[in-house]
Amino acid sequence: MKILVTGGLGYIGSHTVVELQNQGFEVVIIDNLSNASIEVLDGIEAITGKKPIFEKIDLREKQKVQDFFKKHGDVEGVIHFAASKAVGESVEKPLLYYENNIATLVYLLQELQKKESSSFIFSSSCTVYGQADQLPVSEDAPVKPAESPYGNTKQIGEEIISDVCRVTPQIKSIALRYFNPIGAHPSIEIGELPKGVPQNLVPFITQTGIGLRKQLAVFGADYPTADGTCIRDYIHVVDLAKAHVVALQRSLNDRNEGNFEVFNLGTGKGSSVLEVIQSFERVSGVKLNYEVVERRPGDVIRAYADTKKANEILGWKAETTLDEAIKSAWDWEQKIRN
Ligand code: WQD
Repeated sequence: MKILVTGGLGYIGSHTVVELQNQGFEVVIIDNLSNASIEVLDGIEAITGKKPIFEKIDLREKQKVQDFFKKHGDVEGVIHFAASKAVGESVEKPLLYYENNIATLVYLLQELQKKESSSFIFSSSCTVYGQADQLPVSEDAPVKPAESPYGNTKQIGEEIISDVCRVTPQIKSIALRYFNPIGAHPSIEIGELPKGVPQNLVPFITQTGIGLRKQLAVFGADYPTADGTCIRDYIHVVDLAKAHVVALQRSLNDRNEGNFEVFNLGTGKGSSVLEVIQSFERVSGVKLNYEVVERRPGDVIRAYADTKKANEILGWKAETTLDEAIKSAWDWEQKIRN
């Protein structure tokens, strides 16, 4: 069975391609290489022994999207990762985000509407909840006004899919709201390749540990938490990838309630910034150079998932511990820098 993975050479996309191939799916990747390198294909093949079909397409080119689905009429499911995802950049360049994250979604759904039946797995984010009133955060927590155009594109994306599914019973869609993906494949053949200065905590930690960055800035230690730093739910990227395969199988087997469902993907455990630093020092033996600075605007204090729905309905549970995830990130950092 052929599955399209858009953004399949990216961080979460590439790990999901590996898990799809492990489950016997034939994978075709679309990527415009704006935030990924073609060498990731070799990394995937090194792990699974199978090189996915790859088509360099920019999903903003509607005609190219239409031509793709004419050529690959046997695609039965789509896992849609391709999107811009830098929160700060989205504030500076909103139209880039609305075009790249919304127009492309519309073009994909227009193609799926023409098919007899299809599955559509959408990469969403816990960012839609903002600062949830109740923790852990469950799927029925209210979606709050987005703090950034990036977050808004995830909210709008879910609404578009919901509206389309309401009038298109042959599309079975599941939106997956990620918490904080971290780490690398245990083979260290693939991992996170942030462009430029990492925005996210864990790649900044490993780059500081390896000496690429002088010091980690901890954005605030005066929050109302045990150690004063923000709390997040750090989920290993392979656990996240496996959840995509399970969600795809659920939608392909026509088991999803109605034809649009939403699941939170996290470990259910919150970790503070200082706890992540301590985890890194424990698994690497490296003393991390960091300094507490001002809070980062837009940061929520606490976010960690209520995983009951995914555990019970998808039959999926994150298995990797924080230390194991951080260790994989550190192993990957050492490999790509040597
Ligand atoms: C985590 C914690 C920071 C960097 C973002 C997006 C979200 C999703 C995941 C795409 C926070 C602190 C960070 C640093 C720090 N992305 N931090 N120093 O903000 O929870 O989520 O990435 O889908 O949509 O919003 O992740 O890793 O940036 O920050 O102190 O150099 O680490 O303040 O408390 P975040 P993050």
